[in-house]
Amino acid sequence: MTEGIPITRHPAPPEQVERIRAAVREAEQLNDSRLARPDDAEGLYALLSEPKVNAPIYSLPRPLNVGNVRKFIEDHVAQQARGEGLLFVRDAGGGQIMGYSDIQVWPEWAAGEIAGGLHPSLHSKGSGTQGAAQTFTWMFEALHLNLICETASLENVITQRMLDGMGFHRMGQVTSRRPDGTTRESLVWEMGRDEWSAAQRSRPS
Ligand SMILES: CC(C)(COP(=O)(O)OP(=O)(O)OC[C@H]1O[C@@H](n2cnc3c(N)ncnc32)[C@H](O)[C@@H]1OP(=O)(O)O)[C@@H](O)C(=O)NCCC(=O)NCCS
Repeated sequence: MTEGIPITRHPAPPEQVERIRAAVREAEQLNDSRLARPDDAEGLYALLSEPKVNAPIYSLPRPLNVGNVRKFIEDHVAQQARGEGLLFVRDAGGGQIMGYSDIQVWPEWAAGEIAGGLHPSLHSKGSGTQGAAQTFTWMFEALHLNLICETASLENVITQRMLDGMGFHRMGQVTSRRPDGTTRESLVWEMGRDEWSAAQRSRPS
């Protein structure tokens, strides 16, 4: 949990709030990922156990074990029913999960955040940046958000470079709280829908 984000808080009109909640409830697929189900607990635990995946992410269950990963998935099923959160997994078949995306939505501010990770065998080849760009577009278009707010640890150079490179704006620093109560300092970035759309239109194809 991170108190104090998003930094920018413009109350959304009630119709947009309801549209966002409905879109979250109806979501089924994000790029090549599907919604996580409780029986993904073992496969997701295997992915999250990779130190290169779990070290930079404050929002993962702690202690990290299969039972808590199952609760994490079940909690996201409940978040989706409220129209406030989604958990997607990239299912490689045979119980192997190669990536996950954890989307938090603040319908009242038409804002959202995504945390996630890829299997280490996929890191540093450009696929994270490509997948994140598709996901941001999806969050603005399919979920009707106006603002995306992202955080990264002070040591997470890859994510920092990714967000700076995409034109996100640095908004300062906040304290993120892990599920076990320990804290971590996080840098914060934001990007608005109109600026994102304009940047995508002007990208060379
Ligand atoms: C974050 C993550 C999704 C990024 O995906 P990726 O495919 O590894 O990253 P990319 O290859 O697209 O690289 C992104 C930027 O980092 C740079 N980079 C990649 N590997 C790097 C490394 N080992 N050291 C320094 N910079 C690196 C790239 O050059 C690129 O910057 P540039 O556009 O300025 O050249 C992935 O690394 C990951 O899953 N990490 C673990 C979990 C995590 O940190 N999640 C984010 C916080 S929620």
